[in-house]
Amino acid sequence: MASSIVNVPCNVQAIKGLDCQNYIGLRPSRNLKFNCVRTGTTARRPRLFVVRASEKNDGPVKKMGLSDEECEAAVVAGNVPKAPPVPRKPAAPVGTPVVPSLPLNRRPRRNRKSPVLRAAFQETQLSPANFVYPLFIHEGEEDTPIGAMPGCYRLGWRHGLVEEVGKARDVGVNSVVLFPKVPDALKSSAGDEAYNDNGLVPRAIRLLKDKYPDLVIYTDVALDPYSSDGHDGIVREDGVIMNDETVHQLCKQAVSQARAGADVVSPSDMMDGRIGAIREALDAEGFQHVSIMSYTAKYASSFYGPFREALDSNPRFGDKKTYQMNPANYREALVETHEDESEGADILLVKPGLPYLDIIRLLRDNSSLPIAAYQVSGEYSMIKAGGVLKMIDEEKVMMESLMCLRRAGADIILTYFALQAAKCLCGEKRMMKKEQLYL
Ligand code: PBG
Repeated sequence: MASSIVNVPCNVQAIKGLDCQNYIGLRPSRNLKFNCVRTGTTARRPRLFVVRASEKNDGPVKKMGLSDEECEAAVVAGNVPKAPPVPRKPAAPVGTPVVPSLPLNRRPRRNRKSPVLRAAFQETQLSPANFVYPLFIHEGEEDTPIGAMPGCYRLGWRHGLVEEVGKARDVGVNSVVLFPKVPDALKSSAGDEAYNDNGLVPRAIRLLKDKYPDLVIYTDVALDPYSSDGHDGIVREDGVIMNDETVHQLCKQAVSQARAGADVVSPSDMMDGRIGAIREALDAEGFQHVSIMSYTAKYASSFYGPFREALDSNPRFGDKKTYQMNPANYREALVETHEDESEGADILLVKPGLPYLDIIRLLRDNSSLPIAAYQVSGEYSMIKAGGVLKMIDEEKVMMESLMCLRRAGADIILTYFALQAAKCLCGEKRMMKKEQLYL
């Protein structure tokens, strides 16, 4: 047996490069002789073929005329068969200056000459497997559009959420992160609703896991959606955010999410010492298998504006600068990295994404852990708005920004574009355009 291609679920049949053209498909070639065995027919999703190169010799090669020896003899005798002529040098436009060629022994453009060469030398790849899809959920039955984030909705947890996750899975996005819009009446200064085992997030997790057992569910660990003050932690009367008391609540929140079936709990609150405390709390309850994605370098950014509108989670007073990082700081991200690593984080996250590519690279170069980047609401909305106003090509800018986050060192990207970008990677958009052409 000369070769075999493994049998894998193939919702995503092809992975494309940045220019949305170079498919690297996994389909058996039609020109070759292969024994194809279809497997996994019991599963609902189609499986790839297991392909084995044939061992049997299917008889002599068809005789075309002369033997090899006769062909060689003909060439040696000077009877060389015809081949197309040497291509003529393409003409330069009239007026092009005639200059001696530069004495360069390195011309990097040679490796960018054609789509095939460019695809061969592409250093970074983008795949739906790299995306985590953030989803907003609420108690309602309907999906409510979010004004500041065109294309995003607060999804009804029982219907809209399940449908949206189904669509994402169809194009290879099998990881989501949930953000709840909590009724005002359930908010309090200590944010106790955050660890209600029958709260919105635990219910949604249980429903999703029931429907899609292999879905990877990330959760947000922070008090802001549950806090009557709109802060990520408990606020003392003088406005100070209380660190250790908040961490106590966060541990309960993380355990409650783990109990519901969360795969990765993600503290986004930026309190000190929360990673170690949450690890200990999870382990004490038997959740050794639940991962922690730490928002290691989360900056006090104005790019979160649309998100806070989506969840109605604007801080009631002040800002988040005593816990989120100063956008002017670089070295401080290393302090946080070392803490989170030693406390047992499994994944380190940088947020926002595109304006903080240097921080992503910093973490990538200083840690062996997987790095996540969060392309936040403001980044998403700017690209959407630019597209709507026809100032930029939305799809191309979307794909480029995601590729750049990967190039900077992000393994995974939390992005509101997850579904749209995955569809583009799967070629759905291109097929649509082709169909339109035929109309
Ligand atoms: C808060 C949280 C925020 C985001 C994710 N978790 C906003 C904030 O810090 O106020 C922002 C995400 C986005 O803007 O897309 N725990």
